[in-house]
Amino acid sequence: MREEISVRTPAKINWFLQVTGRRLDGYHHLRMVNQRIGLLDEVRVAACDRLSLVVEGMAGVPGDNSNLVLRAATLLREHYGITHGAHMTLIKRIPMGAGLGGGSANAAGALLALNRLWRINADLRDLASLALRLGSDVPYCLHSGPALVSGIGEIVHPLGAFPPYWLVLLKPTISLVTADVFQTYRKIPRQPMVVEPDWKETSRALAGGRLEDLSQCCINSLQPAALGLAPDIQLLLDGLWNNGADFAQMTGAGSTVFGAFKHQQKAQVALQELKSLASFSALVPGL
Ligand code: C5P
Repeated sequence: MREEISVRTPAKINWFLQVTGRRLDGYHHLRMVNQRIGLLDEVRVAACDRLSLVVEGMAGVPGDNSNLVLRAATLLREHYGITHGAHMTLIKRIPMGAGLGGGSANAAGALLALNRLWRINADLRDLASLALRLGSDVPYCLHSGPALVSGIGEIVHPLGAFPPYWLVLLKPTISLVTADVFQTYRKIPRQPMVVEPDWKETSRALAGGRLEDLSQCCINSLQPAALGLAPDIQLLLDGLWNNGADFAQMTGAGSTVFGAFKHQQKAQVALQELKSLASFSALVPGL
């Protein structure tokens, strides 16, 4: 029987995303507290002479060379001089243009699965440098739990598990392109902060189960820019706060927002109340 390897590739949220500067090449320095969540795509790879990709589960996801799974496979093959191919299947549940890191998670999953299938035995450090060439969120996606992520996304410090929280995800109809959100961010004049965001305080509040303290210390620097491009984000955030979320914020460069709840039943009620406003909605635990 031909060998097949299957990996689940979870979405992520950013509890904290602060832009701290800009590099000469235009990329932004970031400080992020990230967590993987229980919204999962799946990447399956099977031994084959040629390299091919089939996408299932969601309409409109390209299966060509613009797909990060195929790009990850090609990069790994070139870097290690692999002559085998693989038949790859990507089963999509994470929406695109959503700030949930779906494509990045798929790319990281493909690197991990093909590293095993092709018996490359690269360690996590080797894979991480390839991961960064695929996208700034891909290095974090090689890891599993919460982490402090900095640089442009390549420096990953695991933070240890947080207590279980429930997350209501709501995505407005509009999808956002990360580069557009950063470009809009640069045009908005910086306001002095009333409360200085503090990733350490964010991490401590999360570790200690104090979701109600997060609005004092969290930030997503990209949220005002994304709101300018997709005003419906505010409607969804207001909905989450008004329906009992202990905390609510946009994830990544948007357009998805998440409401965090300590109690699953409260989260379920909020989801029922708000899902008609969203093009995608889900209730998932943090991982
Ligand atoms: O790395 P990735 O392909 O996800 O980035 C998409 C775009 O987002 C980049 O082309 C860049 O415009 C912007 N970006 C940035 N600084 C980062 C990450 C992304 O400016 N740290």
